[in-house]
Amino acid sequence: MLSLTLLCLLIPALSFAQDGSISGPTSSSDAAGYSCNASACKLPKCNCASTSPPGGLDPADVPQFLVYTADDAVQSYTIDSVNQFLAQRMNPNGCTPRMTYYTSLNYTNYTLVTDWFVAGNEIADHTMTHVGSPPNDEIDGNLIALNALAGIPLSSIIGFRAPYLNYTADTLSHLAASGFTYDSSATSSIPVTENGTDAFWPYTLDYGMANDCLNVDGLCKGKPKLPGFWEVPMYAMFDSLGIDGPHLMDPWLDPADGSSTVDDNATLTYMQNTFLAHYNGNRQPFGLYTHPIHTATTYPGVSASNSTIDMINSFLDWAQEHEGVWIVSTEQLLAWVQNPVPLSELDSFTPLKCSVPEINQSICDGIPDNEQGLPDLCDFPDFPFYTCYGCPVEEPSPDNPNPPQQNASNGQEPRYRLPANCSTPWWDPVKGTCLCSGASCQYHDISRPIGPNGANLTGGDTDRASSGIPSPTASFLSFNGNGASASFPAGTWPAIMVGFFGIVGGLYLIRI
Ligand SMILES: *[C@@H]1O[C@H](CO)[C@@H](O)[C@H](O)[C@H]1NC(C)=O
Ligand SMILES: *[C@@H]1O[C@H](CO)[C@@H](O)[C@H](O)[C@H]1NC(C)=O
Ligand SMILES: *[C@@H]1O[C@H](CO)[C@@H](O)[C@H](O)[C@H]1NC(C)=O
Ligand SMILES: *[C@@H]1O[C@H](CO)[C@@H](O)[C@H](O)[C@H]1NC(C)=O
Ligand SMILES: *[C@@H]1O[C@H](CO)[C@@H](O)[C@H](O)[C@H]1NC(C)=O
Ligand SMILES: *[C@@H]1O[C@H](CO)[C@@H](O)[C@H](O)[C@H]1NC(C)=O
Ligand SMILES: *[C@@H]1O[C@H](CO)[C@@H](O)[C@H](O)[C@H]1NC(C)=O
Ligand SMILES: *[C@@H]1O[C@H](CO)[C@@H](O)[C@H](O)[C@H]1NC(C)=O
Ligand SMILES: *[C@@H]1O[C@H](CO)[C@@H](O)[C@H](O)[C@H]1NC(C)=O
Ligand SMILES: *[C@@H]1O[C@H](CO)[C@@H](O)[C@H](O)[C@H]1NC(C)=O
Ligand SMILES: *[C@@H]1O[C@H](CO)[C@@H](O)[C@H](O)[C@H]1NC(C)=O
Ligand SMILES: [Zn+2]
Repeated sequence: MLSLTLLCLLIPALSFAQDGSISGPTSSSDAAGYSCNASACKLPKCNCASTSPPGGLDPADVPQFLVYTADDAVQSYTIDSVNQFLAQRMNPNGCTPRMTYYTSLNYTNYTLVTDWFVAGNEIADHTMTHVGSPPNDEIDGNLIALNALAGIPLSSIIGFRAPYLNYTADTLSHLAASGFTYDSSATSSIPVTENGTDAFWPYTLDYGMANDCLNVDGLCKGKPKLPGFWEVPMYAMFDSLGIDGPHLMDPWLDPADGSSTVDDNATLTYMQNTFLAHYNGNRQPFGLYTHPIHTATTYPGVSASNSTIDMINSFLDWAQEHEGVWIVSTEQLLAWVQNPVPLSELDSFTPLKCSVPEINQSICDGIPDNEQGLPDLCDFPDFPFYTCYGCPVEEPSPDNPNPPQQNASNGQEPRYRLPANCSTPWWDPVKGTCLCSGASCQYHDISRPIGPNGANLTGGDTDRASSGIPSPTASFLSFNGNGASASFPAGTWPAIMVGFFGIVGGLYLIRI
């Protein structure tokens, strides 16, 4: 049970969930003043900002990506919240969808970051203490602390989103200089159906930015030039007011169509209409950009609306009935944009596959079944957290993102942090040994070439009977929670998959 004191201390995490709203266009063709030399700018290192799919593909051969992201602190409540929408689903290749968690560190429970990463999700940077116009130490410190205390390889943290979507040209330059691959803070604010839409596919900044030109100083007209650094725009949705009715993050918290009250039916309608505009057009990615706390059902003392949760699941069920729809992390989207293969070849596209490491030892490695009892409790008064990698003497901060380890009171030896030449699930932080090295590590590929969405990608025998994955089916299956557990990779999910549909109370969360 949580003490009342702890509960009060957790509540501040809610106050972070206020980023991301726009009220009208944040760009225009004039303000963008964008021009790109398409004969010099070639994939995979360069891509011009364009509303057409990369690689010159015909939209009919292009997957409709549905990018799913979450922002802010990682806690059991927020993981439960994401799981109620994704864990029961499958992409056309049979894999559980992955998503991107833009993680800030205040109130983050580090072992859950480790678990979420090892389960295949992308962990990205959202500053340490959640500040807009972020100073460099907030950005770099997040990387360092996630590496030290959550065991995320530095090479795997490739993306950034600014808190409150508040960034500057300097933020982008710093990200590029620090070796990040992409930023995803800019907004696409004009419907895909309008002339002059700013719904560009992800692009590199070789020729400057083409989004947010009216919103952020020092962008566009060729600036900032950051060759090889990507912008992945956040695509707004639009209600019946069209360009004057944009919705960006947590759209289910917004009243729509000029109304003053939230109506889940109205939200569902414009989400579907915007999705169809993308799907029937150039198939620019569609995004669900969420603060999971707003749909949390296990957060002590607060509870989301059942009707909103059901609406979001209905939307996802409906979207998945369309052929060629893939729910992905930002990292997966970008991997495809860099190497755009047609829909018919997606079944063999490695970044969309799901393989789980076969590790069967009692080590603290992000696999819940393995790590039982092993994480250390770091009992800091404002937010106690767990880590596999040894408690620091003080909480990480931008001034000191990687404090020295505590000498454990129980006489336990210091833990070993993840080295650069071992990957998270194979590293034993207690013994300081890597159970595997190089490409020879044993992984178990659980993807399959045919999906449940009528995608019929390749056909043929998949020989996955022993993996616990259901046989391919030719027609769509409803994922509405029924029979879902059959598809979970053994040993990977169960411990973090608590609280499914466990909805209590009726307090509606208002936007704060
Ligand atoms: C565009 O790039 C090509 C190939 O690098 C080059 O030959 C051409 O001069 C460039 N055009 C302009 C307008 O810069
Ligand atoms: C933190 O993580 C530990 C270990 O995984 C878990 O037992 C605990 O419930 C988590 N607490 C929160 C608030 O996330
Ligand atoms: C959270 O961030 C604030 C700065 O905004 C900092 O003063 C505080 O110590 C942080 N708390 C935790 C738990 O990291
Ligand atoms: C962005 O963040 C900075 C620093 O926190 C703040 O001064 C500024 O007002 C913010 N800008 C916007 C548009 O929110
Ligand atoms: C876009 O421009 C074209 C040609 O100028 C015009 O025919 C079309 O009606 C315009 N569409 C919209 C939605 O404004
Ligand atoms: C939403 O739509 C459903 C089904 O069409 C209907 O039963 C329900 O009353 C509607 N709710 C509102 C608030 O309009
Ligand atoms: C993992 O351990 C379980 C029980 O200890 C055993 O049944 C299973 O065969 C082991 N799997 C592997 C791949 O070693
Ligand atoms: C941990 O213990 C060692 C040896 O007893 C001591 O030298 C060191 O200063 C201690 N570190 C901390 C952070 O207390
Ligand atoms: C990793 O690097 C360390 C030195 O930094 C070396 O001692 C160790 O053998 C390497 N491990 C593997 C598995 O290559
Ligand atoms: C899947 O099969 C159906 C029926 O044969 C066909 O209409 C549809 O075009 C196929 N879809 C793909 C993506 O090949
Ligand atoms: C929400 O749904 C859950 C599970 O279906 C149910 O137990 C709970 O009573 C519902 N809450 C409200 C306010 O309807
Ligand atoms: Zn945030």
